[in-house]
Amino acid sequence: MILVTGGAGFIGSHVVEELVDRGHDVVVLDNFSVGCEENLREVRDDIEIVRADVTDPRAVERTFREYRPEAVIHLAAQVNVRYSMESPFVDARINALGTLNLVSLAAEHDVERFVYASSGGAVYGEPEYLPVDEEHPTRPISNYGVSKLAGEYYVRVYAERDGFEYVILRYANVYGPRQDPRGEAGVIPIFLLRAARGEPLTIFGDGEQTRDFVFVEDVARVTAEAVERGDGVYNIGTGRETSVNDIVNAVKAVTGVDVEVVYEDPRPGEVRRIYLDPSRAREELGFEPRVDLEEGIERTWEWIRRKIA
Ligand SMILES: NC(=O)c1ccc[n+]([C@@H]2O[C@H](COP(=O)([O-])OP(=O)(O)OC[C@H]3O[C@@H](n4cnc5c(N)ncnc54)[C@H](O)[C@@H]3O)[C@@H](O)[C@H]2O)c1
Repeated sequence: MILVTGGAGFIGSHVVEELVDRGHDVVVLDNFSVGCEENLREVRDDIEIVRADVTDPRAVERTFREYRPEAVIHLAAQVNVRYSMESPFVDARINALGTLNLVSLAAEHDVERFVYASSGGAVYGEPEYLPVDEEHPTRPISNYGVSKLAGEYYVRVYAERDGFEYVILRYANVYGPRQDPRGEAGVIPIFLLRAARGEPLTIFGDGEQTRDFVFVEDVARVTAEAVERGDGVYNIGTGRETSVNDIVNAVKAVTGVDVEVVYEDPRPGEVRRIYLDPSRAREELGFEPRVDLEEGIERTWEWIRRKIA
């Protein structure tokens, strides 16, 4: 049995589908604050669902007792960078203390492997060199980056003390179907939704800021793989640098909509350029992104159109 926290969310639901495809038994623990059952529609009959909060020790303990998972994939988190700046205590409670709660109970209940979803975009801070590899210093510039990094350290401390295996996956900018286009992150679904509605796209800054965009199914595959192998920290990105202006052009090409673009002031807490070196994940986890940006945007566009139809 594999326990997937945040399994009803954007990335989590794709991870659950991948695990079910691979023949694993899965229990999802989610408080459904952001995630929804609709995301799990395809696999609903094959999995168990526990509606609980990762910060609730009794509920998490009960889940470990009842399902006895041998591995945990911990994706549940508060993922909004701006919110982390406005409400740092709530962010820290969910991301840092929620991870501490989960990993300490995992240790008590003899879990063999713990996979933690971290953020390559947030934990490194402003890059000193590019592409960013796993040895790059971690100097987060947002509270979200701090709370995700604290989670990494809790995982390491318990894994080393209690002798279970762990994998930390530092995801780049993940995008694809089921990413909330009303959220603050996820520039691709946000732009696609606005294009669908004929609304202008807002860019914070000059649009030359860059990111590493990785398609959600590629991320789900490597996350499921981390249940079987790997040890330590891995960047999960494409190694490609794409600017927000490049995304605008791709959105225009895929949708055929000649969208208007509005430039506003850059937002604090965001790095200028970042893309990740995924060599380690390629060598040790067999990570090979299969979906390029154009296909990924096309598939996200199909999903958005079905959703608003
Ligand atoms: N989307 C990205 O680009 C990206 C990049 C780097 C890292 N990550 C990490 O990947 C993970 C998944 O992110 P996502 O983009 O799928 O976000 P998401 O918001 O869609 O998924 C998070 C899930 O966790 C659940 N959740 C939130 N707080 C909870 C709590 N207190 N108790 C139980 N469940 C709770 C939500 O209901 C949701 O289903 C997060 O840990 C995030 O930090 C995401």
